[in-house]
Amino acid sequence: MTPGPLPPPLPAAPESAIPPVLPADAACELVNLRKVFDTTVAVDRLSLRVPRGTFYALLGPNGAGKTTSLRILAGLLHPGDGRAFIDGIDVHREPARAKARLAYVPDEPALYGKLTPVEFLEYTAALWSVPPAEARARAQSLLAQLGLADRAGARLEGFSRGMKQKVALAAALIHQPALLMLDEPLTGLDAAAARLVKDMLQEFVAAGGTVLLTTHILEVAERLAQRIGIIHRGRLHAEGTLEELRLRTGRPGATLEDVFLHLVGSADGIAAVQS
Ligand SMILES: Nc1ncnc2c1ncn2[C@@H]1O[C@H](COP(=O)(O)OP(=O)(O)OP(=O)(O)O)[C@@H](O)[C@H]1O
Ligand SMILES: [Mg+2]
Repeated sequence: MTPGPLPPPLPAAPESAIPPVLPADAACELVNLRKVFDTTVAVDRLSLRVPRGTFYALLGPNGAGKTTSLRILAGLLHPGDGRAFIDGIDVHREPARAKARLAYVPDEPALYGKLTPVEFLEYTAALWSVPPAEARARAQSLLAQLGLADRAGARLEGFSRGMKQKVALAAALIHQPALLMLDEPLTGLDAAAARLVKDMLQEFVAAGGTVLLTTHILEVAERLAQRIGIIHRGRLHAEGTLEELRLRTGRPGATLEDVFLHLVGSADGIAAVQS
């Protein structure tokens, strides 16, 4: 499909509407990032800062560049032009130090099918040098929290998609990272599991951690996220609290869905939504 014209740029937000976030307070940061795959510009001069201790939702239509941005922050993709930082550490220049502070749950986690969840979690913990006794205790506690205790000894190859997602989340938490990045973590989870995961993520933030997630479930972002970034065609279109986004789009009291569609809808031919 030929992309339509980009919507006109938004008027700049008043300075006072944007809380000042010093770089030292950033759990992660992208600076002027541009990533091109062959001829596709996946991320286009994107700068984004996630304050430490924040629940942050990165939203955008399919192909907007969300997964690419997370993979660059996780050190899985070369940043191309621009830089990516975790806790002020350049991910590309000091990958080991940066990666020790984060955990990344991809949209389709790859697990070792022949291992049991306990073995997989202990293996992951060993990679992060978590002492074995501590790793075992954490693994058992996480599996119990996620309702997988009764499957702890079964091989992962026999797990359902949602169960695998839960194991991936447990593996992400096993080394107690400061920053948890999750790519569409709720897709495929049943209602109870989704609630469980949302509660765990909120607890993680309440305990001082930072969550950066992507989701297409805007109600989740609306309810949980303290800050929201909306990217479209690789560019940051709007950023702030829901209240700030409402103000910027002149839609007081609007749902995040209304705000989101107003911002990105016209470019994708959803003009009716704007009216
Ligand atoms: N490895 C790759 N090779 C070629 N093109 C890629 C690659 N990864 C991503 N792209 C392209 O980069 C753009 C951004 O993709 P990305 O996966 O970051 O989008 P997204 O915002 O995560 O979308 P979705 O909501 O569908 O998950 C798309 O046009 C995609 O086709
Ligand atoms: Mg994606």
